[in-house]
Amino acid sequence: MGKTALITGITGQDGAYLAEFLIKKGYTVHGIKRRSSLLNTDRIDHLYQDPHVKERNLVLHYGDLTDSMNVTRIIQECRPDEIYNLGAMSHVKVSFDVPEYTANTDGIGTLRILESVRLLGIADHTRIYQASTSELYGLVREIPQTENTPFCPRSPYACAKLYAYWITVNYREAYGLHASNGILFNHESPVRGETFVSRKITRALARILLGLQDVLFMGNLSSRRDWGHAKDYIKAMYLILQQDKPDDYVIATGVSTDVRDFIRRSFAFVGIEISFSGEKEKETGSIKAINDQLFIDKVGNNHLENLKIRIRNNPVIVKVDPGYYRPTEVDYLLGDSSKAKEKLGWIPDYDLDGLISDMVTSDLLLMKRENYIRDGGFSTFNYFE
Ligand code: NAP
Ligand code: GDD
Repeated sequence: MGKTALITGITGQDGAYLAEFLIKKGYTVHGIKRRSSLLNTDRIDHLYQDPHVKERNLVLHYGDLTDSMNVTRIIQECRPDEIYNLGAMSHVKVSFDVPEYTANTDGIGTLRILESVRLLGIADHTRIYQASTSELYGLVREIPQTENTPFCPRSPYACAKLYAYWITVNYREAYGLHASNGILFNHESPVRGETFVSRKITRALARILLGLQDVLFMGNLSSRRDWGHAKDYIKAMYLILQQDKPDDYVIATGVSTDVRDFIRRSFAFVGIEISFSGEKEKETGSIKAINDQLFIDKVGNNHLENLKIRIRNNPVIVKVDPGYYRPTEVDYLLGDSSKAKEKLGWIPDYDLDGLISDMVTSDLLLMKRENYIRDGGFSTFNYFE
């Protein structure tokens, strides 16, 4: 018999990659999805199985981390060997708009899982992974950040996750639960939510090159992040729960880059050189040069001439909109995952350029599809935050 896992947040970026990974390992995966007025299972539709099929390896339950009885009942029904608590209101800027909801889901939601496992008497059977975050370091006390760096949260999201971190440690110490925190630094992918900065950039890049959008409006271009690929990070989650003893681990690449450089590298991947000038709200990014051959290889021949005409008129493609600034910012994240390397044997496959290549390639395909739809006479829409 294979193991059984329960994933909260299975419809999210990490949940989808983790579900696929565990199913390949022979797990039966249960996932909690929220009821919504539109279908919200795009990221896991390729794993979906008709509920009438016997012995499915993916089972979805309606639920919500804010509903204690629902959480307890689902855990009781599927008696998982492993729980991956990935469900969260995960957008830092949005957490300033919905602080109470964020605390309830991201903070108390974690307590609901821990307490359910304790009350159901399955603590000896069930291991718990808590999705902790580098946002805990906030106004960083040291660079790079390790498992021993003090926390200093800077948003309602980070404050909620701080509670979740410590209640996980507390249940481990007080009741002997096999409960661990993965302190994951930013990780992205082609299925990253569209309003996180990496995906916002790669989607806008594709739209600008194909003539679907003029300008990319950004917030703080100077903040630095340690960006990895979600495919590598979900493997760390799995490894953390395979250890005999529960513990807390930093998962990061060890390379930090600012948002400006993420933009530069993304455009460089398709042969376009971007240069930035001006300061603060007046800063802009403009196309300086195009490597025709690289552009044709990555994007295709069709759009090169149109892009050249466009930049002769106006080369500015990045502007700053202070509306995207946060009331309190996290300026500099850089992780040291030596402990994970040593104890888990975790080493990422992707570097930053590998991540960017994966994301830009995927978004170019997506936007080409939008172009076909438009050429076919149908309307397409952009998403704005
Ligand atoms: P994501 O794409 O935003 O996915 C979040 C998931 O949580 C979605 O499935 C969402 O459902 C679900 N969810 C939201 N509110 C919920 C609620 N009240 N009850 C149940 N489920 C709820 O996030 P992600 O990037 O995959 O991140 C996974 C986890 O790791 C999150 O806890 C995040 O805070 C944490 N984390 C992420 C990173 C990162 O860089 N990605 C780094 C460190 C930690 P819907 O699909 O219905 O919205
Ligand atoms: N989203 C967004 N949109 N961020 C922008 C923009 C913009 O237009 N312009 C600049 N930024 C800056 C933000 O101010 C932030 O400093 C940085 O880009 C990264 O923003 P996000 O991609 O939204 O991610 P995050 O670092 O705030 O949070 C993500 O990583 C955390 C781990 O450190 C989320 O995935 C969290 O759930 C996760 O815990």
